[in-house]
Amino acid sequence: KKTVIIDTDPGIDDAIAIFLALTSDKLDVKLITTTAGNQTIEKVTSNALKLVNLTGIKGIEIAKGATKPLIKELYTAEEFHGESGIGGVILPEGEQQASERTAVEAMKDLIVHSNENVSIVAIGPLTNVANLITAYPNITHKIEQISIMGGAYEGGNTTPVAEFNMYVDPEAAQIVFKSGIPIALFGLDVTYKAVLFNEDIEQIRSIGNRISDAAAEMLEFYAKGRTNGLPMHDACAVAYLIKPELFTFIPCNVQVETKGEFTYGQTIIDKKRLTDRPINANVAFEVDREELSNMIYASLKSF
Ligand code: BDR
Ligand code: CA
Repeated sequence: KKTVIIDTDPGIDDAIAIFLALTSDKLDVKLITTTAGNQTIEKVTSNALKLVNLTGIKGIEIAKGATKPLIKELYTAEEFHGESGIGGVILPEGEQQASERTAVEAMKDLIVHSNENVSIVAIGPLTNVANLITAYPNITHKIEQISIMGGAYEGGNTTPVAEFNMYVDPEAAQIVFKSGIPIALFGLDVTYKAVLFNEDIEQIRSIGNRISDAAAEMLEFYAKGRTNGLPMHDACAVAYLIKPELFTFIPCNVQVETKGEFTYGQTIIDKKRLTDRPINANVAFEVDREELSNMIYASLKSF
């Protein structure tokens, strides 16, 4: 089993990603850290606690992270994830509280004390991961890899060129890409192909357990106004750790624009090797959509 940290801002697709990770027999999720992004840190931390509580799984530490990006003010995605961050769904509060430790301290402790190298799934703005790298540069060799949802080779979803997670904290993202830690990157080029269609959501609806019911309700909220299927952005970063063959990658150099007047937060992905900048990420471009959808279905059904 891979030892895993999930750094997240739930978030509807984050919720699906968390369910997928927690039900996989390939992954041992030891820690979930939260970061401000889709909603404020209070809301996303409360969502993470409620989502894990709903699964009934015990023993996963949940630690609260960055309140705001390194430099910018927080920009949220209420439009897509609602006022709560997880659509209209109302989930019960559990007994578990957020950890006494901050996200960065909890990550550091887990990485230092783990016998095996640790994989990080980063599916929100990269503020916590950047803070970890800056504060503890000498433990990064124990990070097996970071599986990141963010960026795009072509076209953004928040500005014409910037994807949300990168746009929220470009300075943090640039620290992560410069760290030398192995990175698998799932940007919009692939996540827009990683969609669930209405029939997939109907199938999830028909499972009828409390997790699938909550997932269906969130997905129905997330579906509003969309016609080409629902992108399971964050689930890609988890699915890759479970079944890497689902994706096709091109090794690239990736930089994040932190100065551009019109391009702030854009990922510059040198897919065609037009520069001699060194390769620092494996960038996904294709996905087996059907298999990903099956995995999500099987995960929700297993509760
Ligand atoms: C990313 O932004 C967030 O709204 C989603 O949860 C995902 O992590 C997609 O651009
Ligand atoms: Ca997210």
